[in-house]
Amino acid sequence: MVQRVGTVAFEGIEARSVDVQVQVAPGLPAFNVVGLPDKAVSEARERVRAALIASGLALPARRITVNLAPADLPKEGSHYDLPIALGLMAAIGAIPHDALDGYTVLGELGLDGTIAAVAGVLPAAIAANGRGEGMICPAACGPEAAWASPEMEIVAAASLIQLANHFKGTQVLSRPQPKVREIAGTGLDLKDIKGQESAKRALEIAAAGGHNLLMVGPPGAGKSMLAARLPSILPPLLPDELLEVSMIASVAGEIEGGALTNARPFRSPHHSASMPALVGGGLKARPGEISLAHGGVLFLDEFPEFEPRVLDSLRQPLETGEVAIVRANHRATYPARFMLVAAMNPCRCGHAAEPDYVCKRGANTRCMADYQARLSGPLIDRIDLVIDVPAVTCADLLLPPPAEGSREVAARVALARDRQAARYAGLGMPQVRTNAQVQGARLEDVARPDGSGLTLLRDAAQSMRLSARGYHRVLRVARTLADLDGADKVARIHIAEALSYRTGVDDLRRAA
Ligand SMILES: Nc1ncnc2c1ncn2[C@@H]1O[C@H](COP(=O)(O)OP(=O)(O)O)[C@@H](O)[C@H]1O
Ligand SMILES: [Mg+2]
Repeated sequence: MVQRVGTVAFEGIEARSVDVQVQVAPGLPAFNVVGLPDKAVSEARERVRAALIASGLALPARRITVNLAPADLPKEGSHYDLPIALGLMAAIGAIPHDALDGYTVLGELGLDGTIAAVAGVLPAAIAANGRGEGMICPAACGPEAAWASPEMEIVAAASLIQLANHFKGTQVLSRPQPKVREIAGTGLDLKDIKGQESAKRALEIAAAGGHNLLMVGPPGAGKSMLAARLPSILPPLLPDELLEVSMIASVAGEIEGGALTNARPFRSPHHSASMPALVGGGLKARPGEISLAHGGVLFLDEFPEFEPRVLDSLRQPLETGEVAIVRANHRATYPARFMLVAAMNPCRCGHAAEPDYVCKRGANTRCMADYQARLSGPLIDRIDLVIDVPAVTCADLLLPPPAEGSREVAARVALARDRQAARYAGLGMPQVRTNAQVQGARLEDVARPDGSGLTLLRDAAQSMRLSARGYHRVLRVARTLADLDGADKVARIHIAEALSYRTGVDDLRRAA
């Protein structure tokens, strides 16, 4: 007889149904797992054997075959241990034959029979709930699974023995409750930054419209400091964003203690990050930093120091909001709609832009051009705001702390975001929440400037030789400026300010 247990395999953040079929047949003692398992799945045999023995159950001295169907779907990860072990327990009568019907099962086993946390419980629970099934998962992941639905049945156990007792009815496990992690304020506030008013303004605009931002300035100007304070002015995740962002974190195994959080992600990978680390994929199908930044911020400090190949791989996700990873036997798509915030020095030594600095590598301009040429034109073109962050002067540092801090700025950002969301919902695009997400004709429509604004834009487009993409980016930023102003129509001053954030782009593009 074949015992069946339901579990899942992940394709991107989607959980596909997998059927674990366990057969115990007469023959020489053997234990085989078939159905395109990866190394971690093949090792399940050893963990299952040890865990069953530790739980007081011996494997029968017969021929055991485990098939993971459908066989053409690659199976990765350690979460197949528990469905295999429970299938075997049902096959040998240690739990009732029908106990596992209507459950999706995930979990990794320790040699002592304990059940360890696994990645991907949230998307698996959502998929199980969609099929009208319950879920059996590790105790540590119970609160995460409970987010899928308040009604679905969830059995979250710490060990195989607990599960056996649960199904025998001797010790019934109670349903876990969804948990939220309190946002621990980082204690970083815009108040800490003296001077740099225009940089703070650009940060506010970027946060309001979800725009990409590049800060260029000498070392010590406070670029990293500014970026680190971006989370303090971003609004919290909306409920449906929270679920999507958490699904990615879940598949990456980054949800601690099963508690979700509504703080927007802020990821700042080091410039030595490899391509798989940044965009995802690699040996294991895993979301990269750009997907973990979905709904939030990807901060790339020392921007030109990243490998050019790695930087150029950002181009497609920046445009489409998702990343497709294709491997020999597998294709996965992960969401990757993030705000790119980057910081760089103007040249390798960092001081080329300062007055009366003489670079020993030759003319300052050459040193700058060499360094900035590491960024490709098409990548720079995808950045809406490029700003100069000049060195802070002593006079600035001696100033009293600014009156306005993150709280005031966050309030304006939230208001501007509400205005955008309401506008796009009114236009029948509820999935669009920020100006950064609007494209082409729609953008030209919502950001159409008034008469004098249009004249200014037309002249500037010609003299600055704006590309089509550049032209749209100016409109998009101008729309955000109008939203911050509470204005329905984009006016000349909005266009003028938006254009001022393009001059830096042109300087960099010329270098590229
Ligand atoms: N505007 C500023 N106000 C207060 N302190 C500053 C400011 N700019 C820089 N600093 C100080 O200089 C240090 C270096 O800033 P940092 O953000 O790392 O510079 P960058 O990333 O531009 O090289 C900060 O830790 C802070 O102590
Ligand atoms: Mg820095």
